[in-house]
Amino acid sequence: MQIVVIANRSGGVSKTTTAHNLSAALAIAGKKTLAVDLDPQCDLTRFSGVVPEEQEQNAITVVLDKEPLGPAVVEIGKNLSLLPCHPDFVSADTELQTKTGGELYVKKALKAATDYDFVILDSPPSLGKVTVAAMVAAHHVLIPMPTQYKPLEGAVRTLNTVELVKEDLNPDLNVLGIVATMFVRGRSLDKEVLRHVETAEGFEGLLFDTVIRQNTDLAQAPSYGKSIFEHAPRSNGAQDYVALTKEIVRRMKNGR
Ligand SMILES: Nc1ncnc2c1ncn2[C@@H]1O[C@H](COP(=O)(O)OP(=O)(O)OP(=O)(O)O)[C@@H](O)[C@H]1O
Ligand SMILES: [Mg+2]
Repeated sequence: MQIVVIANRSGGVSKTTTAHNLSAALAIAGKKTLAVDLDPQCDLTRFSGVVPEEQEQNAITVVLDKEPLGPAVVEIGKNLSLLPCHPDFVSADTELQTKTGGELYVKKALKAATDYDFVILDSPPSLGKVTVAAMVAAHHVLIPMPTQYKPLEGAVRTLNTVELVKEDLNPDLNVLGIVATMFVRGRSLDKEVLRHVETAEGFEGLLFDTVIRQNTDLAQAPSYGKSIFEHAPRSNGAQDYVALTKEIVRRMKNGR
């Protein structure tokens, strides 16, 4: 079982889109996958066609109240399940702050997830206690980053937090890589940022070969509660996420 947290301190960088479609691609490839929504915005829950307010058991009951994982999990497709979030999870950062060992709560909540091949954690656009607790629970961090300057800065700060978590709490945490998202070919800034990530100190070997292009189908699919593979299987978005998923699995096998 491999746990991957999708993180970037910057907002709107394609974290949830990546969590959603990576989970769907793994499930289609026959891997039993659990997608976990740890963001009180509940986007991953809604993207999956689940109404957050209707789920009595959710990230609050499982992570904060330490109730069992199983009954809170919703089957959303073949090989694919979801631990939904709830808007009241907005208190989680402060609650975990006040609890002794709060950074261990996600890890404890996922102890029962052993029969999944992959667990994909979507995190909020902050580096608060919830994101730290997700990094403590995870084997790998995946950083989505649109090819723009602000998300690049968010990626740097996220990598710094990973280093702190590795020092104190989870020495085996692996940075799987940075995936460029919302890429527009022919826009000069996009190329500049890509080149920077390829060559800058601290980023060596991190950038995935696969680039996720800007694609309207990727933005539309969630409004139908569908993954890109159900909504537009032949789209650029579907092709890019299949390629990324293959590259991720390859990196994991090669120990990156
Ligand atoms: N490759 C893409 N092409 C076009 N639109 C995209 C792409 N990736 C994401 N989007 C759209 O951009 C918006 C932000 O994406 P998403 O919600 O995945 O980001 P996020 O990092 O999870 O945001 P937040 O920080 O608020 O959680 C969404 O409306 C989404 O549909
Ligand atoms: Mg999100």
